[in-house]
Amino acid sequence: MGIAMSSDLLGLAGRVVLVTGAGRGGGEGIARQFARAGACLALVDVDTDSVGRVAGDLASLGAETLPLVADVTDAEAVDEMLERTLAHFGRLDVGVNNVGNFGAHRPVPVMEQSADFWDACVSQNLLSTFLCAKAYGRAMAEGGEGGVIVNISSLSGLRASVHLAPYGAVKAGVMHLTQTLALEFAPHGIRVNCVAPTALESPSLRETLDPDEIVAREQANPLGRLCEVEELGGAVVLLASDLASYVTGQTLMCDGGASVTTRRPVIRVDSQRS
Ligand SMILES: NC(=O)c1ccc[n+]([C@@H]2O[C@H](COP(=O)([O-])OP(=O)(O)OC[C@H]3O[C@@H](n4cnc5c(N)ncnc54)[C@H](O)[C@@H]3O)[C@@H](O)[C@H]2O)c1
Repeated sequence: MGIAMSSDLLGLAGRVVLVTGAGRGGGEGIARQFARAGACLALVDVDTDSVGRVAGDLASLGAETLPLVADVTDAEAVDEMLERTLAHFGRLDVGVNNVGNFGAHRPVPVMEQSADFWDACVSQNLLSTFLCAKAYGRAMAEGGEGGVIVNISSLSGLRASVHLAPYGAVKAGVMHLTQTLALEFAPHGIRVNCVAPTALESPSLRETLDPDEIVAREQANPLGRLCEVEELGGAVVLLASDLASYVTGQTLMCDGGASVTTRRPVIRVDSQRS
């Protein structure tokens, strides 16, 4: 391969990138980093106001943005989201599956967990990733120029997930699904990878944990702090970029080294909260 100087080493300038759950937290950080790399952005969220705010912020930085409201656990809504993206931008180069959470359930021990908790985690994290990956894959295959998909898992999917068993199990599923998608989509020139962060400096973390639990997480982390949402975005952009052109089927831990230390705080159940 010849070596030429490039002002766009990432190869993302003018590329069309769709980010789900872009209205706040990790999705907002991911979208912001793609905007910095010069990409055009379809920003998807169930929350109209928040996705509109992020689209406006990124547009004021010079990015072309398309805010879309869709529930990515709904197959019809996902198909419509793709149709609107293709109608507006004419193509899709990168799809990021960032939506994921506990489905509004609080951490509880397995012996107290309901089937609803499990259903919600499967729907929010695994079903959403499957539906979107299928839609991205079809659009990219039809476009004939390949593409990249990046899924978002969690350290909880690699290590035991005490009091959040269904979340850990489905995040492990996202890592596994990434491998299968990578092999099935490879003949179309589509790479599929995954980023697994640990605790993000995000609104959802502050809604889930008491302040002293957040301090415990910072202290237990080898880098001594939480993951900034734009650091998650940096890892996603790296995998989506031309720099990772021979990387597929992989999960990149974006966790400050948390996965390689034995120090890890447990998430409290409600009865233990202040
Ligand atoms: N927050 C953390 O500490 C943390 C840690 C590890 C992994 N993660 C993972 O990182 C990702 C981002 O986490 P976060 O805490 O920023 O997310 P979050 O719960 O704050 O949600 C982000 C956005 O997704 C939107 N959303 C929720 N359900 C949706 C749906 N069905 N369709 C469309 N939009 C929907 C929300 O409205 C919100 O704006 C998730 O996959 C999460 O599992 C988060």
